[in-house]
Amino acid sequence: MLETPEAAVEVDPAFRADVLRGLAQPVPAIPARWLYDRRGSELFDEITRLPAYYPTRTETALLETVMVDLPSYVAPGGAVVEFGAGAATKTPLLLDAVKPKAYVPIDISGEYLEASAAVVDADHARVAVHPVVGDFTQPVDLPGEIDGLDRLGFFPGSTIGNFVPKSAARLLGHFRDILGTGSKLLIGMDRIKPVDRLIAAYNDPEGITAEFNLNLLQRINRELDADIPIDAFRHEARWADMLGRIEMHLVATRDVEFTIHGQRFAFSAGQSIHTENSHKYGQRGARLLLLAGGWTPITEWLAPHEAFVIILCEALPDRFAP
Ligand code: AVJ
Repeated sequence: MLETPEAAVEVDPAFRADVLRGLAQPVPAIPARWLYDRRGSELFDEITRLPAYYPTRTETALLETVMVDLPSYVAPGGAVVEFGAGAATKTPLLLDAVKPKAYVPIDISGEYLEASAAVVDADHARVAVHPVVGDFTQPVDLPGEIDGLDRLGFFPGSTIGNFVPKSAARLLGHFRDILGTGSKLLIGMDRIKPVDRLIAAYNDPEGITAEFNLNLLQRINRELDADIPIDAFRHEARWADMLGRIEMHLVATRDVEFTIHGQRFAFSAGQSIHTENSHKYGQRGARLLLLAGGWTPITEWLAPHEAFVIILCEALPDRFAP
């Protein structure tokens, strides 16, 4: 007889594989994308409204200025392609400024996509919305409806900072392949700033970032038949200066053992699980990363105190280099 599992918790085999493999590494690490389940996405949303977390607020304010200038660089009637549409709160600003014929949000979460597509549909009657459900790090087919239109990619939120530079350059090259030669990209990047401000943004006094980070352990317990004692770990945000990045870790506060999917793990006090990177860039570093990914910077907008930058770049035809 077939048995129906009691708890209908859906298990993503890729999540299980990443966790089991990641925790067995010499430097235990779990890919950051797994932080964003439903609860994690809610908590991240809360983070974006925290006083200490400056990036979202700073970028949204900066976008107001960008939108005044953008029409002199981007012609109306093209297609806007957003990588990781998410909650898409910044998108209406962009569509108002650029007046495209079509908007293509790409996101792995069909739920998020529907919500953002609905917002845009309601307020932008003249923009045709063509959502694509998919992982933007993988090959994607753009809808045939935008064939022949000029393309503008949109990658806000300093999401590029989640990728180590080697992967970031590869991802930017992938965007270039998707959008094609002659297209443009508008990208938001967080800047290097005094360490205390950086740390504060990832270690808020309200403890929301800690909750966001620790939620990963709860997700493992929930979905992967695990018994990790959550209270044996604490959230830590570190600045790795040579690498130019904030790292989030879950540090064991005592010696601890647990089981995940029948596999035993032991952590000694002070050992950590690396859960996320958030790279920060200086002016030249930001431009160089884009160039390494095949994008030529055209112009950029800098937030007050150089806290954040939005860069417009172009996929120029490859030319014979001297
Ligand atoms: C969504 C990757 C841009 O790195 O600032 C915020 C994620 N993690 N606080 C960032 C995050 C902890 C965020 N990004």
